[in-house]
Amino acid sequence: MAQIQLESVSKIYSVGGSVIRAVDNSSLSVERGDFLSIVGHSGSGKTTLLSIIGGIMRPTSGRVLFEGQDICSLDDDRLSDYRSGKIGFMFQFASLLPMLTAAENILLPSLFSTRPESVNREKAREYLALVGIEEKLNAYPSQLSGGQQRRVAIARALIYDPPVILADEPTGDLDEETEAEIMSLFRRLNQERQITFIFITHNLELAGMAQRKLRMTHGTLTEGYVQKSFAPFSITAVSMMRLSSVMVLLRRIGSHPPFGSHFSSARPNLMPHSWQTRSVPSCR
Ligand SMILES: Nc1ncnc2c1ncn2[C@@H]1O[C@H](COP(=O)(O)OP(=O)(O)O)[C@@H](O)[C@H]1O
Ligand SMILES: [Mg+2]
Repeated sequence: MAQIQLESVSKIYSVGGSVIRAVDNSSLSVERGDFLSIVGHSGSGKTTLLSIIGGIMRPTSGRVLFEGQDICSLDDDRLSDYRSGKIGFMFQFASLLPMLTAAENILLPSLFSTRPESVNREKAREYLALVGIEEKLNAYPSQLSGGQQRRVAIARALIYDPPVILADEPTGDLDEETEAEIMSLFRRLNQERQITFIFITHNLELAGMAQRKLRMTHGTLTEGYVQKSFAPFSITAVSMMRLSSVMVLLRRIGSHPPFGSHFSSARPNLMPHSWQTRSVPSCR
């Protein structure tokens, strides 16, 4: 049985007489221990989809099954148990409270939990050790680097041992090196603890590190390959100049026999298809 199953899920907003299909008939099957990335343009429905999977929001139609149970049929209390018991959330910013220490930030969710007894300071220490910053137990966010703050947020998301982590652009404001560190921490937790990760990112290189890569387009989810790097295709000013001089050269060759007929008919196909049709995508 799949751990998470989305069946034809849609979320439709009606705003001022217009209808927005934020998620449009999307289906997905996630197995325990999957490591999934989602990319897509801004407004394509990624956050809405993650909120539906996490039980923060109910879909307009379709079903969301967690280990076979339809979470949309749960009443508010049981949906809240699902969120706190099965899902760890991470958002774009670490969102730590500045007046609380790392340990206190990690323990904060227990104030709202129906299982406050299962977490304590010792567990906060254990989870800070797991994310590699045990010594920062009593540090305030202002005394931590961006990467360390993110590690505290990961420890907070893990504190109830959720089987699933949902992360919405979790490394959005970090430098590349720290982004990569956080991603490898995700991967280690995924492999060592079989935690399922579903993360949204605008960084195609990070998305490419996932074992399954999904793309959201106008509310519709598709499974597909995301190129790790667009370097071979990145059209910088220099490569454009080189390309145009090659094209001029080919055109000249093309107008002179014996190459003329061959090159002039082949010219439209000289570039890879993707160069002809694609602009460099932005997933923000
Ligand atoms: N609460 C809301 N009310 C109305 N429209 C919304 C609401 N939340 C999101 N939307 C719209 O739904 C679409 C998808 O939004 P979102 O899921 O945030 O996209 P993404 O995370 O991919 O940027 C957008 O057109 C957005 O404006
Ligand atoms: Mg979003």
